[in-house]
Amino acid sequence: MTNNGFSDTLRRNHERAISEATADVQFNAWIDGVSTTSDTGRRFETRTPTVDEPITAVPRCDADDVNAAVDAAEAAFDGVWGSMSEDERSDAILEWTSVLRANSKELALLESLDAGKPIANAKYEVGKALDYIEYYAHVVRGEQGNQIPVADDVHAFTKREPYGVAGLIVPWNYPLILAAWKLGPALAAGNTVVLKPAEQTPLSATRVAQLSEDILPAGALNVVHGFGDEVGAPLTRHEDVSKISFTGEDMTGETVMKAAAEGITPVTLELGGKSPFVVFPDADLEKAASIAAEGVFYNTGQSCEAFSRTLIHEDVHDEFMEFFEAEAAARIVGDPLREETTTGPLVSKQQFEKVKEYVKLGRREGATMVRGGCTDSLDYEHAGWYIEPTIFDNVTNDMRIAQEEIFGPVASVLTFSDYDEAITIANDVDFGLAAGVATTNLSIAHRAADDIRAGTVWVNQYGRLVPGTPFGGYKRSGIGRECAKETLKEYQQTKTINIQIDDPKL
Ligand code: NAI
Ligand code: MG
Repeated sequence: MTNNGFSDTLRRNHERAISEATADVQFNAWIDGVSTTSDTGRRFETRTPTVDEPITAVPRCDADDVNAAVDAAEAAFDGVWGSMSEDERSDAILEWTSVLRANSKELALLESLDAGKPIANAKYEVGKALDYIEYYAHVVRGEQGNQIPVADDVHAFTKREPYGVAGLIVPWNYPLILAAWKLGPALAAGNTVVLKPAEQTPLSATRVAQLSEDILPAGALNVVHGFGDEVGAPLTRHEDVSKISFTGEDMTGETVMKAAAEGITPVTLELGGKSPFVVFPDADLEKAASIAAEGVFYNTGQSCEAFSRTLIHEDVHDEFMEFFEAEAAARIVGDPLREETTTGPLVSKQQFEKVKEYVKLGRREGATMVRGGCTDSLDYEHAGWYIEPTIFDNVTNDMRIAQEEIFGPVASVLTFSDYDEAITIANDVDFGLAAGVATTNLSIAHRAADDIRAGTVWVNQYGRLVPGTPFGGYKRSGIGRECAKETLKEYQQTKTINIQIDDPKL
C-alpha cells in the first residue's frame, strides 16, 4: 500500500504539535523540588501512538533514584510539609491546582500526544483531574476526630494522622486522572508522595510536578520515571514507604500486594474489570445502544470500568444490534488532535498487538464478528496503532473474550432469556469493578443493582463519576475506594489518645 493523504496530514500535525509541546521543557524526574536526570544517565523515549514517533525522552530511573525520592519525601514529611496545619496544606494544594488550571491546555496536549487520546477528551479529563485534587483540599478541612466517653477520670479522643511517604503507581490509560485520584487524598491527608507514572505516558505528570515549584515545599511531591521492575518494584519494597496505592493490571496488583506484605504496608488497589452492561427488554433500546457504545469505545476501550460485555435480552437482540452497530459506525476514528475525533489509536504497539490477538481469538472461539476487527478498511497503513470499533455477537460467557480484560475497542455481546440468567452471567467473572443496567422499570433497576457484585452500578448511563462517588472493585478488581471522602482514610491512620484525669488535690 502506498502512503496516503491521511497519514501525511496526521504526521505533519503531530510534528508541529510535538515541537510546540516540547519546546522549552525538560522532561525530567522531579525529586526534592528539583528537575533531575537519573544518576544512571540513561533515558527512554515516549512515543505518540498516533504516528508511532518519539515525542521526547525521559530519565530511565532505577532503585537509587527511588531511594533519593523517598529520602526527599521523608525529609519533607519530617520537615515543612509535616509541620504545616491542615488549612495551610489545603491552601497550598489549591494554589497549585490554580496554576495547573492555568496550564490545562498544555497538559491536555501532552496527554493527547502521549496516549493518543482525542483532544476533546483530554481537555475534559484534565479539568476532571483537577476537580478531584481540589475536592480533597476542601473535604480535608471538614475532617474531625472523635471524643469517646470512656469514664469520668479519662479523656479519650482520636485523631487521624497521615502514614508518611506514600508510593503511588499509575497506568497509562488516564495518566492525569488516575494520578489525581491518588495525589489529592494522599497530599491533603498530609502524606508526602513519590509518584511513578506509566512508562508509556510520563509527560503530564512531569509538568504537574514542575508546576508545583515554589508552591509545594521541596520533597512533598516527587515523580520518578521508569519501568515497573526498575522503579515500581523498588518503590513497593521500600521500607520507608508506608502506604502504597496502585492502579493497573490485576496480575501486577498481586505482585504489588505481595511486595507490600513484607513491610505490612497498607495498599489500595484499583485493578481490572470486565463490566457487564445488562439491557432489559423494556429499555429504551436506542439510548441503551448509545450508552453501550460509549461504554466500550470511549478512550478506545482502554478503561478499567469499560462496558466490555453487553448482555441483551433475546427478544430485543436484533433491534438493539441495529442501533449498536450504527453507534459503532458513527464513532469518528481519526486524528486525536482534531476536536471532532472520538476514537484514537491504542496507546502502544504492544497494546495494539494484544487487542489484535483477542480479535483473532474471538473468531477462533466461534463468536460472530459483525463489524470492525482490523484496520484494513481504514487508510491507516502508515499511521499508528488503530483498531476499528469492533463488535462480537453470539459470545458465550465461557469464551476468553468474555472473561479477560481486552482493553481495546472490542465489545462482546451475549444474550439472556430471563432475569436470573442475566444476573448469573453478569456475575460469572473474576472481576467486579462496575456494571450497567438499562431498564425503565424501577424494580428491575433496584433489584439488579443489589444482585450484581460490583463496586459501581450505573443505571441508564455509563461512567458518571464525580468527586464524592466512591469508585473501586469487588473481587479481583481491587481493594479500597477512590474518588470519595472515605478515600482520605486510606491515606490516614487513627490514633487514640487516652488521658487519665486525676482528682484535683486543691
Ligand atoms: P501494568 O499493571 O503492568 O502497569 C501499570 C503500572 O504499574 C505502570 O506504571 C507500570 O510501570 C507499573 N508496574 C509494572 N510492574 C510493576 C511491579 N512489579 N511493581 C510495581 N509497579 C509495576 O499494566 P501494563 O503492563 O501497562 O498493561 C498490561 C495490561 O493491563 C493492559 O493490556 C490492560 O489489559 C491492563 N491494564 C489495566 C488497567 C486498569 O486500569 N484496569 C490499566 C492499565 C493496564
Ligand atoms: Mg506490565
